[in-house]
Amino acid sequence: MKSALKWEVLAKCSTTKARAAVLTLPHGPVNAPVFMPVGTQGTLKGLTPDQIKDLGCQIMLNNTYHLGLRPGQELLDKCGGAHLFQGWNRNLLTDSGGFQMVSLLKLAEITEDGVQFESPHDGSLMLLTPEHSMSLQNSIGADIMMQLDDVVSSLTTGPRVEEAMWRSIRWLDRCIKAHKKPETQNLFAIIQGGLDPELRKKCIEEMLKRDTPGYAIGGLSGGEEKDKFWRVVTLCTDLMPREKPIYCMGVGYAEDLVVCVALGVDMFDCVFPTRTARFGNALTATGTLSLRQAKFRDDFRPIEEDCDCVTCKSYTRAYLYTLVTKETVGCHLVSIHNTAYQLRLMRQVRQSVIEDRFPQFIHKFFKDLFKEKD
Ligand code: GUN
Ligand code: ZN
Repeated sequence: MKSALKWEVLAKCSTTKARAAVLTLPHGPVNAPVFMPVGTQGTLKGLTPDQIKDLGCQIMLNNTYHLGLRPGQELLDKCGGAHLFQGWNRNLLTDSGGFQMVSLLKLAEITEDGVQFESPHDGSLMLLTPEHSMSLQNSIGADIMMQLDDVVSSLTTGPRVEEAMWRSIRWLDRCIKAHKKPETQNLFAIIQGGLDPELRKKCIEEMLKRDTPGYAIGGLSGGEEKDKFWRVVTLCTDLMPREKPIYCMGVGYAEDLVVCVALGVDMFDCVFPTRTARFGNALTATGTLSLRQAKFRDDFRPIEEDCDCVTCKSYTRAYLYTLVTKETVGCHLVSIHNTAYQLRLMRQVRQSVIEDRFPQFIHKFFKDLFKEKD
């Protein structure tokens, strides 16, 4: 199918499947591998679009369903899409909405038509179909739009996993048909099939026939064992086309990012860095600091000495300690640092691939991460 992206691989690691690339989308270039911060309601919780830009972020995630409710499709059309509405002139990726319904609202029910759920506003029954998701994503104007998929927990076993896989293929076909702007917006397919290698293979075989501009690996990071997670990622990246970007959905722990890059993944997203910030947890190269601990009361160092984010340049752990338990601004400051940490980690990974020293990078990364904390 048509695509509105360019995928240029700049360098490949000689001993792993890691690669450094430039993904050019309608709203500018994205250096890959890339971590995409999640702004559910238009922006990251606690950060303005300008602050996100200042962190060097080239692509942010939004949620179709949330934007569909507020500001709503009519306003999005009137204003010319979510980029203009939010004052964000860089790239946007929208998730299709079904996954959020199932994970946020326990009441969601999946039928062949779509995802049915009770409106959180007035309790009325609503149906998110592949056609409706595409129509909303066309109104949003996302540079990358995700197909509506049938997602089951990675811990689910039995016939439901296969059913969800085949339904995701049928829904992909409906999404392709309903997509009105393939010249300016890229539709990505999402591989499902749980932890079963045969189902994953079948799903990839079918979805490759649809020839979408990029592919995602879905249905992971739901509490499965790492060993199984890595095997599915490896199988998928082995069978997916190497001339297109590969996106592993919902993955965002630093160690998972580094390992998955080695296994051939190019794109990631996760709410983890900003969510954990709201609990006062700061991510660092030597592990997580829980800033609510009393030992930080008189610690006048920044979160990380060599971090160049605005939080680390201006504020101490002691000040953040007094804030995080009481004031929302404390969480905002930690969110800025955590997002800066993730983006910097990916820049370092990418640079090490370009300079042909990715294995050495991994070695040092894990050595630092499990070093005695201070
Ligand atoms: N976010 C994390 N995992 C998934 C998935 O499997 N599908 C969708 N649509 N979004 C996700
Ligand atoms: Zn910082």
